[in-house]
Amino acid sequence: MLLDKVEILMTSLAIFGSTGSIGRQTLDVVRADREAFDVKVLAAGTSTSLILEQISEFNPEFVVMADKDSAREVRNSTSGVKVSSGDSALREAASSSELVVNAVVGFAGLPVTMEALRSGRRLALANKESLIAGGPIVQKVRGTLGSELIPVDSEHCALHQCLHGGRTYDDEIHKLLVTASGGPFREWHLEDLANVTKEDALKHPTWNMGPKITIDSSTLMNKGLEVIEAHELFGVSYETIEVVIHPQSVVHSMVEFTDGSVIAQLSMPDMRLPISYALYYPKRSQTPHGQIKWDELTQLTFETPDMDKFPCLKLAYEAGKAGETAPAWLNAANEVAVEAFLQDRISWKEISEVIERTMQSYSDALADSEQSIYEADASSRRAAMKCVSQVHGRG
Ligand SMILES: NC(=O)c1ccc[n+]([C@@H]2O[C@H](COP(=O)([O-])OP(=O)(O)OC[C@H]3O[C@@H](n4cnc5c(N)ncnc54)[C@H](OP(=O)(O)O)[C@@H]3O)[C@@H](O)[C@H]2O)c1
Repeated sequence: MLLDKVEILMTSLAIFGSTGSIGRQTLDVVRADREAFDVKVLAAGTSTSLILEQISEFNPEFVVMADKDSAREVRNSTSGVKVSSGDSALREAASSSELVVNAVVGFAGLPVTMEALRSGRRLALANKESLIAGGPIVQKVRGTLGSELIPVDSEHCALHQCLHGGRTYDDEIHKLLVTASGGPFREWHLEDLANVTKEDALKHPTWNMGPKITIDSSTLMNKGLEVIEAHELFGVSYETIEVVIHPQSVVHSMVEFTDGSVIAQLSMPDMRLPISYALYYPKRSQTPHGQIKWDELTQLTFETPDMDKFPCLKLAYEAGKAGETAPAWLNAANEVAVEAFLQDRISWKEISEVIERTMQSYSDALADSEQSIYEADASSRRAAMKCVSQVHGRG
């Protein structure tokens, strides 16, 4: 009798990108409250051994892998679980649970975002790239009855809280202040940035994250992407969104109101807090994450970002303001450039150069369908790969 009651209260959960940094932390949140969530779907790229461990612990009904070989390997090692691969399987899986966590990295997460919202699910969105590349088409499906988008990015989770879950009047907002740690090169001189190594760039001062977002944080492209994300999530103009460097990563973002009041959200840097905020919303988790020890918190400092040292931030503002498919171009160019850097094909400084040169070949195109976004993404990738070859070729 008691068991029946517990099952009825459980929320069915799908976790896309379950083997990654956010995915694993989402499973930590679930572990802390096993009676609240029933994990029905797990999805990952190619990490078969980790997903097999997760399958045996969480017993999902449906597993999706990025490619057929990985799916076959998982299928051969499990029983009683449906295992598929590819975009159509991602779409099918994204509509099958009440709550969908999209923690896939990169543009590959777009089908999950689209299908979760289109089928009226609550979407806990970590995969910012889908919202940035597909902003206008995501906005259309966001209006589907029952759908709800709760941000997982710590800055947007903070803004969501400061804006009372979006129930603040637009004309009361003076500024959204998006905080940034500043990354590992905040104190480096401009001329030293030519010598950045992969190891330097992968050493984030305050957060432990997947490799792509760690590199994005080092170039401040992550902050640029978050500016576009804030515009898409909260419908505010780019002039209203300001980036503030805050090296301690304790203030996760702030809203300045027209009367001069500023409301901020504070917690220690622990992604399990924004993840659990999204999982339990509008309630709060009973498990504390990132609790502040006030006697150890000696200082909170704030600075203006240096756009000469970090041109990616400027490029992101420009693409965001251009709108339509420009953010999809920016996102794809960035994904190609970061991958090329991680493969030692270009230097850290050349990441922004590749993106800037790619954006020079962008010509206006409307973002009026999913196809237009996929075309923009593909065109930008082609242009960016050409730039990478040119930059790499000059030695
Ligand atoms: N990490 C953070 O603290 C943080 C904070 C804020 C926002 N975010 C955002 O959250 C997202 C995930 O970041 P992360 O740091 O967790 O990345 P990550 O550690 O690299 O994990 C990425 C996940 O995506 C999976 N994946 C890759 N390609 C896939 C595909 N085609 N289909 C299905 N799954 C696929 C990976 O599977 P495999 O393991 O098999 O490759 C892995 O599970 C990013 O958009 C990032 O910007 C992350």
